[in-house]
Amino acid sequence: MNGLISSAVRWFRILCLSLGVFAVIAPAHAGGDPAAGKGKAAVCAGCHGADGNGGADLTIPKLAGQDGDYLAKQLKDFKSGARKNPIMSGMVAGLSDKDARDIGAYYGGLKPRPGAARNAQLAKLGEKIYRGGNAKTGVSACMSCHGPSGHGIPPRFPRLSGQHPAYVENQLLSFKSAKRTNEGDTMTRIAFRMSEREIKAVAEYISGLH
Ligand code: HEC
Ligand code: HEC
Repeated sequence: MNGLISSAVRWFRILCLSLGVFAVIAPAHAGGDPAAGKGKAAVCAGCHGADGNGGADLTIPKLAGQDGDYLAKQLKDFKSGARKNPIMSGMVAGLSDKDARDIGAYYGGLKPRPGAARNAQLAKLGEKIYRGGNAKTGVSACMSCHGPSGHGIPPRFPRLSGQHPAYVENQLLSFKSAKRTNEGDTMTRIAFRMSEREIKAVAEYISGLH
């Protein structure tokens, strides 16, 4: 019995030690400090929601659970003008690179709230495109870069699952018209081949993906 207890204690020590070491060698989100980010994000809550899951305006994205490095890059791109949006460029004017990383780490650590598609028929067409693309028009399957559940592949391929459909639709239209080109033309080449109906459909499917 004593042997059993002491071996349990030994394993517990080993576990604590290895967790401790792991915490030291695995910093969250490339140096961003989520606690500092929380304070800096207070002004963002009015539009992006107190929990980062957005508000009533569905053209404003959910940020909760998005990759912190992707978010920091978008903030820097709004600031430099590489990504254009009159509202956001005003919001980031005073942010440093460190602020952007801290805010990214903060939102990246918030829990994303799942959404639900409202139009089942449209979502069904969207699912086909998301999973298999459109061979006739040369649209690639979204899944190959954004993952089967839309969780993304950080830091380059953002998370999409549960995002507001109006925001996703707007972004796809911006890529299609080459208005959003802050990460090269990968998405423009894809969206360019999509019809407006396909864009609506895939946005509807993504809103319920989790
Ligand atoms: C007045 C409303 C408003 C406020 C306040 C606001 N935003 Fe935004 N934000 C928007 C809108 C609208 C968009 C969509 C822009 C677009 O369509 O490209 C957006 C987009 C973003 C994106 C891009 C997300 C993605 O998935 O690519 C990030 C990141 C972001 N905001 C962060 C912030 C941060 C951080 C703050 C606070 C410092 C903030 N926002 C304050 C309205 C707002
Ligand atoms: C070859 C890889 C690849 C494929 C396939 C792909 N994407 Fe993307 N997607 C990207 C990259 C890279 C970005 C980041 C672009 C940026 O930061 O400007 C992106 C960004 C996006 C965004 C913006 C997210 C945000 O939060 O603002 C949306 C929406 C999107 N993709 C939807 C789709 C849909 C829908 C499909 C399928 C029709 C698709 N993507 C297929 C690489 C891909």
